[in-house]
Amino acid sequence: MTSAVKQVLPEGDSLHLVQITDTHLKETPGGCLEGMDTDHSLDHVIELVKRERGRVDLVLGTGDISDHGSEAAYRRADDYFARLDAPVAWLPGNHDCADTMRQVLATDDGFIRAVDGGHWRIILLNSQVPGEVGGELGAGELEWLRENLVAAADAGQHCLVCLHHQPVPMGSDWIDEQMVADREQFFAVLDDFDCVRCVLWGHVHQQLESERNGVKLMSTPSSCIQFEPHSVNFKMDDQPPGYRWMALNADGSIDSGVSRVLGVRFDVDLNSSGYL
Ligand SMILES: [Fe+2]
Repeated sequence: MTSAVKQVLPEGDSLHLVQITDTHLKETPGGCLEGMDTDHSLDHVIELVKRERGRVDLVLGTGDISDHGSEAAYRRADDYFARLDAPVAWLPGNHDCADTMRQVLATDDGFIRAVDGGHWRIILLNSQVPGEVGGELGAGELEWLRENLVAAADAGQHCLVCLHHQPVPMGSDWIDEQMVADREQFFAVLDDFDCVRCVLWGHVHQQLESERNGVKLMSTPSSCIQFEPHSVNFKMDDQPPGYRWMALNADGSIDSGVSRVLGVRFDVDLNSSGYL
C-alpha cells in the first residue's frame, strides 16, 4: 500500500465505527470455509449491523476479505459493505491479494491509510507479507505510523491504530507463530507517544480485550468461522459470526463491544484440523 488518503469524518462528540473482519469470501457466491457459507454469514452480519447501529461514521474491513484474493470476492465484499452506507477503510490480510484488492476496493488515490476524525486519528497499517501467513510491518509502515502519531500529537488528537495481525500473544501456540514479527519495534514507536488509545486487529477469529501501558488492545471475531481461544493446536470454536462496534469519544475514552448473529443456524466443521 503506497497511497495515503486522509478522509475527514464528521466532527461530533463521538465517532461511531464498525469493524467487520476476516470475511473470507470465496470466488463463487456461497463458497464454504470449513463448512460455513461465508456469503451467508457476512450477509447476516451486515443485517445485524444495520439493525443495531443507528449511526456508522466509518467501517473498518481489517483483512482476509477474500479467502484466495479473487477479484469476484472483492466485488461482492464491496456490495455487502456498501449496504452500511458509510465510508470503508480496508487493509489486507494474509489471505488477500493486495494488488487485486486495491484495484477493486481502493479509490483512484489508493486505500484510505489514515482518517482524520476531529478529536481522533485512525491509522491503518499493512502487516501483510506476500506469500506468508504471519505478519510483519517493516520500516515503511513503522515510519507511516510515526508520521501520523507526530501529526496527531501536534493536533491534540487521540489515536486508534488498526492492522490485520496480532501484535501480542493470544495464548494459542499455533496462531501466536503468526504474530507481527517486528512487534517490538511497533510498540517502541507507540511508547514514544501519549496519544495512542487503542490497537485493533483481526486475523485471530476471536474476541480479546486487554491493555498494555494504558493502551487498549482489541481483537474481533470473524464474520464467518471462529477459532477456540487458548488452544495449543488449531481448533474451531462454535461461537457464531460477529462484528465489533466502537464509539471513539471526544475525551479519548472508548466504548466498544462485540455483537454476534444469534438465532441463525450456520453449518461449520468443528473437527477441522486447520486451513491456513
Ligand atoms: Fe482470517
